[in-house]
Amino acid sequence: MRVCVVAGARPNFMKIAPVVRALTARGLSAGIIHTGQHYDERMSDAFFRELDIPQPFAKLEAGSGTPIAQTAEIMKRLEPVLVADRPDWVVVVGDVNSTVAAAMATSKLGLRLAHVEAGLRSFDRTMPEELNRIVTDALSDRLFASEPCAVTNLQHEGIDESRIFLVGNVMIDTLQTNLERARAGKPHARFDLEPGNFALATLHRPSNVDIRENLVSVLSAIDYASKKLPVLLPLHPRTRKRIDEFGLAESILGSRVRIVEPLGYLDTIGLIDKSRLVLTDSGGMQEETTFLRVPCITLRENTERPITVEMGSSRLVGSQYESIVAAIDAALSGPGRIGTVPSLWDGRAAERIAENLAAV
Ligand code: UD1
Repeated sequence: MRVCVVAGARPNFMKIAPVVRALTARGLSAGIIHTGQHYDERMSDAFFRELDIPQPFAKLEAGSGTPIAQTAEIMKRLEPVLVADRPDWVVVVGDVNSTVAAAMATSKLGLRLAHVEAGLRSFDRTMPEELNRIVTDALSDRLFASEPCAVTNLQHEGIDESRIFLVGNVMIDTLQTNLERARAGKPHARFDLEPGNFALATLHRPSNVDIRENLVSVLSAIDYASKKLPVLLPLHPRTRKRIDEFGLAESILGSRVRIVEPLGYLDTIGLIDKSRLVLTDSGGMQEETTFLRVPCITLRENTERPITVEMGSSRLVGSQYESIVAAIDAALSGPGRIGTVPSLWDGRAAERIAENLAAV
């Protein structure tokens, strides 16, 4: 059986690593197609190396563009690759533009599509990823969910129950595989940070960084945090571009906020693990902090991962300065919310997916 696994942007790479490994372990032929949505060394190649992901057999090099241009370019470039390969399954992960582009190309070619991390919904259609999720799930033949709420969402959308499988979280598979290695790297020491006494902040969502007022508010709150403890801020290319365009670097961020290039996977995990507090708008980091039981202030109005708020260590606070500052004060005044780890986040989600795909 031949399976093509498509990935294109940073959060996809940690999700495909265990899936490709599990498919190969079952004796299936798994080939990776890289769309090229993310192309910088730090946003892409570093993850393949660190996570020991096999080299893609096809690199589409679609690159950046408006969301529509990017999605269309990926579809166009994917068609001949899939026509030549004729896989039994195409596996897509997550919710980025590469995911929906590959989903549409696959279904239009009459090939079978499996979606890993299906059913997550923020119920906010202004968020680009939400449209990607809805379309991808509507087209998928197998839908692999990471949390029970995702299954309910799919049922409400009328998706046939026989296609939905609650398998757990592949991001957590990757985290478990790599945690000891990440800890051994002691990234906090390289950044001169004391374990348990620093905050890690990340920011990249269009709703936070593309609107000047919101970016000012969130950066000011990060600066506020830096008056209480050292803050490390690895900057996503989108955010760096906006900070420059809006001329905000000097005016807002005090010298205590340490701005660095985007981090690799192992450094990110190692730093989350040792941080006192995480401030982020990343979906993946809401899950990683939940697993590592580190308090997480989520800089979003909503989340497609409600289990991280209901059971986990995340608190949704939005983008308003006052609410973020109040959450920082609350988190630092006590032990902070650490929550519990959801069931099926046990490091074996990819094995369940491979078993399922191999069965038919
Ligand atoms: C994308 C995903 C988002 C994910 C995020 C993680 C969509 C709709 N969004 O957002 O869900 O959480 O990736 O990183 O797919 N750029 C570079 N180098 C790169 C990649 C991008 O400089 O390697 C620049 C691009 O030129 C562009 C900007 O960063 O201006 C945004 O890239 P894009 O892939 O469009 O979206 P992200 O904001 O990264």
